[in-house]
Amino acid sequence: MTYAEVIGDPIAHSKSPVIHGFWLKALGIDAEYRKTQVSREGLAEYFAERRADPDWRGCNITVPHKEAALDFVADPGDVRRSIGAINLAFRTEEGALVGTNTDAAGFYAPISDMDLTGKPVAVIGAGGAARAVLFALSKVGVGSVTILNRNPLKGAGLLASFGLKGNALKLDAPLPSVALLVNATSLGMVGQPPLEIDLSPLPDDAVVYDVVYAPLETPLLLAADARGLDTVDGLDMLIGQAALAFELLFGAEPPRTRDDELRALLTA
Ligand code: ATR
Repeated sequence: MTYAEVIGDPIAHSKSPVIHGFWLKALGIDAEYRKTQVSREGLAEYFAERRADPDWRGCNITVPHKEAALDFVADPGDVRRSIGAINLAFRTEEGALVGTNTDAAGFYAPISDMDLTGKPVAVIGAGGAARAVLFALSKVGVGSVTILNRNPLKGAGLLASFGLKGNALKLDAPLPSVALLVNATSLGMVGQPPLEIDLSPLPDDAVVYDVVYAPLETPLLLAADARGLDTVDGLDMLIGQAALAFELLFGAEPPRTRDDELRALLTA
């Protein structure tokens, strides 16, 4: 049977099989979406084996393989030099195995109705998730970007590499007044310390976006709610990146009118 899968190490926690499985069933597509643990040492062998398997449509790629997997795929979009990490390898009709990154577009989809052109934004974090977020923000022409991170030098490097103007500050620096605040760290996730940040400098129409989805209501989003600010949670980005991946893997558009049902399934 035709199949796709998500690979990573660890992989047990991955929600991707729930999302893709829901859409496959909803559309009546006769295919499977699995999860497969692949170690760093096993990555080359994994791709060699799967390339030879005609039933394999491709894979989503998660920690710790998002950078290393670039070595095993074609990169026509030059993702290596932009975001620097892929979250999907898929087969084209011609049979090539192409790497791409749907995190950036998945991040942007829920806020695509906001006019961010020239607007100041702040991003917390400077890791892989932050790179996808900054790539998307650079494409829509945001104004000044403030990166807050444990290591501000890393933040300054990211600003330069995406051609963004702004500041890189320490995590405990006061927030500037921005139209959009994004948490792109794992702070606030189950088992991690909360993100301690004072939201009072934000204007009343600011949007607060957390990429963390477990828990869905992070301390950051609860604080934003308490201030009456609009919020976007991590499930929106998770479902958004999966939707683009699903189209590339299975050649069909997922039924996004059933997102409420899917969200209920993911938070059950
Ligand atoms: P991901 O691919 O999910 O973004 P990552 O590349 O490891 O994961 O990046 C995680 C981000 O969360 C980084 O910005 C990291 O800060 P550093 O750049 O200083 O490493 C941030 N982060 C993780 N744990 C943190 C903690 N306890 N306190 C502050 N920042 C933290």
